Amino acid sequence: MAENGTFEIVDRDGLARIARFQTPHGIIETPGVMPVINPNIIVLSPGEMSKLGMQALITNSYIIKRTPELAEKALKQGVHSLVGFDGPIMTDSGTFQSFVYGGIEYTNKDMLDFQKSIGSDICTILDIFSTPDDSFTKAQYAVEETYRRTHEIKDDGTIYAGTIQGSIYPSLRKRSARIMSSSAVRYLPIGGVVPMLESYSYANLISAIHSAKMNADFSKPIHLFGGGHPMFLALSVLAGVDMFDSASYIKYARDDRILLQDRTVDLSDLERMPAWSPLADRYTINELRDLEKEEKTKALATHNLFAIFSEISEIKQRIAEQSLRRYVKGKVRSHPYLKDAYLKFLGYKDVMHFESYSRKASFYYTDVEDRKDPIYSRLRNFCLAEIAGRDEDIVIVDDVLVSPVLSLESDLVHAYENSSAIFVKNWNGIPVPMEMWDTYPIQQSISSFSGRRSNMLSTLSKIFPGRSVQKMRDRLGVRLPEGKRRFDLEKIRMIARYQFSTDGSSMIFPDESAIRTSKKTDRIRTVSYGEDLIATLRASDGLLTFTSAGAKLLDLALPGLKCRVMVSDESREFNLQGKNVFFKFIVRSDKEIIPGNDTLVVDQSGKLIAIGKATVSGKEMRYFKRGVAIDVRSGLGQSGN
Ligand code: GUN
Repeated sequence: MAENGTFEIVDRDGLARIARFQTPHGIIETPGVMPVINPNIIVLSPGEMSKLGMQALITNSYIIKRTPELAEKALKQGVHSLVGFDGPIMTDSGTFQSFVYGGIEYTNKDMLDFQKSIGSDICTILDIFSTPDDSFTKAQYAVEETYRRTHEIKDDGTIYAGTIQGSIYPSLRKRSARIMSSSAVRYLPIGGVVPMLESYSYANLISAIHSAKMNADFSKPIHLFGGGHPMFLALSVLAGVDMFDSASYIKYARDDRILLQDRTVDLSDLERMPAWSPLADRYTINELRDLEKEEKTKALATHNLFAIFSEISEIKQRIAEQSLRRYVKGKVRSHPYLKDAYLKFLGYKDVMHFESYSRKASFYYTDVEDRKDPIYSRLRNFCLAEIAGRDEDIVIVDDVLVSPVLSLESDLVHAYENSSAIFVKNWNGIPVPMEMWDTYPIQQSISSFSGRRSNMLSTLSKIFPGRSVQKMRDRLGVRLPEGKRRFDLEKIRMIARYQFSTDGSSMIFPDESAIRTSKKTDRIRTVSYGEDLIATLRASDGLLTFTSAGAKLLDLALPGLKCRVMVSDESREFNLQGKNVFFKFIVRSDKEIIPGNDTLVVDQSGKLIAIGKATVSGKEMRYFKRGVAIDVRSGLGQSGN
């Protein structure tokens, strides 16, 4: 069993991740929602909630401590017995009550000792709550004092939660995330956001999440305190939130309100029972309305919690498919302020570091909003830099010529090989050089008509004034500058430049490289040099996978290449034999590493020992202590290498 507090990523889609968090009472799989339980009034029992999909719950240690009967039972039998649940239980500390009543009768230390004594799996520091209306100075005090309180925790194996505060001030959220991450807490809630959620201030909320996430320890779960409404879950997960708690399921139930995936509706306004509701085969809408108050509250709480857990399942499925962005894009249309928050999120450029070069799901280009997708921006930046870097005529190849009909394609290749011009096609407003046409997302995309319609001729003439730009509908009437080159070689070189942000691609693939194509599809499959297989071009996303001989070329040709991890001597021999690299053995890593991309493994003297695929980005690499960092394909000590 993993050590308590270990957080291991299972699957990812950008900043969103499915992960496993180890607690003394079992594993919590994220993203997830902990229902809030008031130990004085248990409407749905944990047993009933488990049947709906609950893995963990949260309760309030302050309420327990100040209620003598509860405190006595909890201290004698533990909090798990008190609430009747033997899975993971997180306890909150009374921060919110302290904020509402202007203080509580216990100190931080009292609350931490108590939470530990009753056997809580995740104990929360008594942090200082900040509201969005607080002045900078007041919010700053809350951040510093909350951090000071982390010094009162003992390093005794307990999992502590230390809340990131900072109100609406990005600089304070950033500082809070950094100092709380540097402390001994292993769980990082984002706090002070309930007023933002209640007033639909989603833009402030996304800013708070982003500033916190980008500065937090990536190996610790991020929890959004109070953020369990199904409307906001998907966008939060996309921005990197792992856990939520929700009291809304019960609060709304008491007010006769029912949670739907994109809104909350009064029971009196509900005309039909949602077919997916667990209540659908139990009551008609009128029967539900006519229930006694207590029974109705329980029924609505059941429905509301089920709505929340259904949304979490959908989000997890989207992460597994790597199509969470597409889902969020639709989801944010349910409220104008949610859309505003999404647009704000799309403006955050640093999200790019966490995105792979390709996704399992195809890329949908629906409208200009999709130009903010990191995969789109990265491709656009690359293509424009490629065109800018070569002072040649530009030829725009019309869609008609880019049909998969072989004769036309080979005709085009012939034209390319006898010319020095840059051949591009318009892919949703990006002039994509012909060498990249099989690479993700070009082939693996579906584009709306609006995407295909942009006027590439005038766009290119504007970006590259003075350059000859012409359109090629057919070969007649186009005068191409003469040249001599191999299309297959130029193609793999350009893909290598894309994958490794390098201009040394002709050193990786020398002129003598032998390139083989598939007989069936006529697409490039492998690249060899002399006797050695260097790389294969993946059919799924048109990107390169290197062999150990290829790794040697990469290493030799590009000493400045920023895709290396250095491992300790303990790990060296294993990696030489082709075994995976574990995080705990990494001594140093380049922060430019892209998740899913080929990465070189070197020993402490800097000597190449293996090549494989990075499981996380360079920004995340140094935080993790457990799990596989590089999925090694080939070790240089294996026979045949
Ligand atoms: N519950 C809702 N918001 C907060 C917060 O900021 N801190 C704590 N400890 N609990 C909360």
